[in-house]
Amino acid sequence: MCRGLLIFCLANWAISGAEIEIKAQEKSTFPDGFLFGVATSAYQIEGSQNAKGAGETVWDRYRETDPQLFHNSSLGDRSFCDSVNKWRDDVNLLSDLGVSFYRFSIAWSRILPDGLANNVNQEGVKYYNSLIDELIAKGIRPVVTMYHYDLPMVLQNLGGWTNPYMVYYFEDYARILFTHFGDRVKHWITMNAACPGYGDEDFPPFMKDPPVAKYFCVHVTLLAHAKAYHLYDNEFRLKQKGTVGITVDGRWYEPRGFQKVNREAAERTRDFQVGMFLHPIFHPDGNYPARVMERIEKTNKQEGYMRSKLPQFSSEEVAYVQGTYDFLGLNLYTTYLVEDFNRSTEKPSYDKDLGVKISQDEKWSGSASHWLKVYPEGARKMLKWIKDTYDDFPIIISENGFSDRGELADVDRIKYLQGYLSAILEAVYEDSVDVEAYTVWSLFDNFEWVAGFSEKFGLYHVNFTDPSRKRTPKLSADWYKRVIKERRIVEVPV
Ligand SMILES: *[C@@H]1O[C@H](CO)[C@@H](O)[C@H](O)[C@H]1NC(C)=O
Ligand SMILES: *[C@@H]1O[C@H](CO)[C@@H](O)[C@H](O)[C@H]1NC(C)=O
Ligand SMILES: *[C@@H]1O[C@H](CO)[C@@H](O)[C@H](O)[C@H]1NC(C)=O
Repeated sequence: MCRGLLIFCLANWAISGAEIEIKAQEKSTFPDGFLFGVATSAYQIEGSQNAKGAGETVWDRYRETDPQLFHNSSLGDRSFCDSVNKWRDDVNLLSDLGVSFYRFSIAWSRILPDGLANNVNQEGVKYYNSLIDELIAKGIRPVVTMYHYDLPMVLQNLGGWTNPYMVYYFEDYARILFTHFGDRVKHWITMNAACPGYGDEDFPPFMKDPPVAKYFCVHVTLLAHAKAYHLYDNEFRLKQKGTVGITVDGRWYEPRGFQKVNREAAERTRDFQVGMFLHPIFHPDGNYPARVMERIEKTNKQEGYMRSKLPQFSSEEVAYVQGTYDFLGLNLYTTYLVEDFNRSTEKPSYDKDLGVKISQDEKWSGSASHWLKVYPEGARKMLKWIKDTYDDFPIIISENGFSDRGELADVDRIKYLQGYLSAILEAVYEDSVDVEAYTVWSLFDNFEWVAGFSEKFGLYHVNFTDPSRKRTPKLSADWYKRVIKERRIVEVPV
């Protein structure tokens, strides 16, 4: 940066092409202490879902009863990446990549087959103990998500995340995890908070009605997260000295065009989609964003509800949830364009309360997933928005990745990751956002939820017809390995 008098600056500028070159290099270099990792989640990779003492999850049930809701590639075979048996191989891949940490999740139903804490499955405990010990032996930190969309079916039978008692069941589950694994696990993500499937998304539990389901889920999820955080604070932190955070879905919402109504619609959408989770925890005032509460209050009246569709926090609860973080985990994938849209004649729904139309730019390049379009600038804007809207706190990018059909020469994935990493570094250097770690989704190709095996996110290819589930590095694995080693965004290999 030029700090001298203008005249010297101009002189400097004139003579320092080389200096500019160096500057550009610095900007593509990661700060000291910045950590690199990869992520997976239990249900997507483990296999043996109903074996080895594990209980049934919502996925097992709905794949059985409603197969038409899933891509046909996901039906039948249940061994997926077979990580329950191949964990040693998984750790070898991680070690080969050179990552500092591995973000994986623990399957609630593998630890507590009955959902509640009366019956701890020792085989499940043993599996995660082996994985954690092997990671630590190889110098890789475990970053553990406690819940990643794989709810035990017995708890879904009780209403899943719409049931207020989930707060206590989650606390019990958290206690068991801290007790069994907290001596070695120092980074906990309570959950991938998003509530898919409690609204219009095609995702278990496919709870499209009544329109309050989404709000109940958000509310109960926030309280459950806070409960687990306080449990750690009160009973484990002193001894285990770890950190606890939550992961949210950081899709960016940009106005389509610059009319005021659309700018407001975009801001409203951020508040509904992201702020509803962030504001109660990360804003100094706590509680839901004012815009969300006002909007829902208005439709409540129009629609004739006797009480708010969005449950209200008592002032004690506002204080209980506020500040329950050591860091924020942010999943970054894509951006949407938002227009204001009058839905006042529609039947009550979350979408009606929000009142927008969402689309993507036809010019953005695509992926194998219909929702994932490439727009790296959105990642930087999201990070800056978080910094400007909430307190300043450490952020880890807990997921960032690209889907294709599984090709080994995955140049489009590398370009995507390059673009997003550059945008993240701009947020770090230009906007002073405190991003401390970055996680690629995903270690290997896996079960992509309702899309089955039709969309591949892996750095490693998995042969799903080979009984040994052979893993093969893609070009992106070699590329990421070099990024980690050289601590800068390296070029696409030729
Ligand atoms: C799945 O669906 C595709 C296209 O609809 C079809 O080509 C394929 O054969 C189906 N696969 C199975 C295993 O049924
Ligand atoms: C939305 O549409 C309804 C019915 O057409 C109309 O009465 C209302 O004024 C509109 N709201 C806005 C903000 O334009
Ligand atoms: C996957 O494994 C099957 C069975 O071992 C084998 O026939 C096939 O060639 C493999 N596919 C690839 C792409 O390696």
